[in-house]
Amino acid sequence: MKTNKVVLIGTGFVGSSYAFALLNQNLVHELVMIDMNVEKAIGDAMDLNHGLAFSSPMKIRAGAYSDCRDADLVVITAGANQKPGETRLDLIDKNVRIFKTIVDSVMESGFDGIFLVATNPVDLLSYATWTFSGLPKERVIGSGTILDTARLRYLLGEYFHLDTRNIHAYIMGEHGDTEFPVWSHATIGASSVGDLVDLTDPQIQSDLQDLFENVRDAAYHIIEKKGATYYGIAMGLARLTKAILNDENSILTISSLLDGEYGQHGVYTGVPAIINRQGIRKVVELPLDETEQKQFTRSIDTLKHAMSTGFP
Ligand code: 2OP
Repeated sequence: MKTNKVVLIGTGFVGSSYAFALLNQNLVHELVMIDMNVEKAIGDAMDLNHGLAFSSPMKIRAGAYSDCRDADLVVITAGANQKPGETRLDLIDKNVRIFKTIVDSVMESGFDGIFLVATNPVDLLSYATWTFSGLPKERVIGSGTILDTARLRYLLGEYFHLDTRNIHAYIMGEHGDTEFPVWSHATIGASSVGDLVDLTDPQIQSDLQDLFENVRDAAYHIIEKKGATYYGIAMGLARLTKAILNDENSILTISSLLDGEYGQHGVYTGVPAIINRQGIRKVVELPLDETEQKQFTRSIDTLKHAMSTGFP
């Protein structure tokens, strides 16, 4: 039987929460964890193994870069994270250097699988991973706006008193301050948002704008309160792991290299895409309305500017 092996690089808050999500969801056969702090990775492996009696069979251990050779998926959560008041883009200098070392070490092992990148600024670090690795773009996926989309779905679910899973609405663009909601394609059950509420009503417009701002600024609010965000993104990474390893062909908002889609080239950003065992099967191109198109262009311009000034 073909077994699934995941190597996780970085066992900080996000990495260890992801490992815990994998343990709970019976998604992989083998999980190898690597961290600069070797004792932390060993301790996490011990701790997680003690949960196996309550879960399903799975091999969990601390390892080394040589373990990436036959991995199906390498998930990177390593790097510096935001301090209160810092933006995601502020992290680029520190983290791109860390990524050069990580990605080179993974590739030296002979790795030929899929990279899943979660470290911020995730769009820029996905691009860096793609460049450093030389892998086809389909096999370098960033977590992008998967979490922002989940936050939007949650808040819309609260607003309409409906199950989050019945809400289909996307956040696209930078996973950061210039992201935007695609209201023109937001559906609740089989109805568009515009069928349920009057989008010309100023009160509704203000409610939806507040709701979006809560999504966009959620990480700042959480970081103010507890120093970091990790459970939400860990669940998003587990969801992506499942879509990849189970060849699901699920539509999820991830960061993909744009190569002509939406008229853009040479930039990674959050878009809906079909995810399967090959990685990114296809970027889904939604016909955006004029406002959304402008917001998308602004987000891409911000990312391109950060790339031109922030990459060492
Ligand atoms: C988040 O959005 C900080 O990117 C992280 O929770």
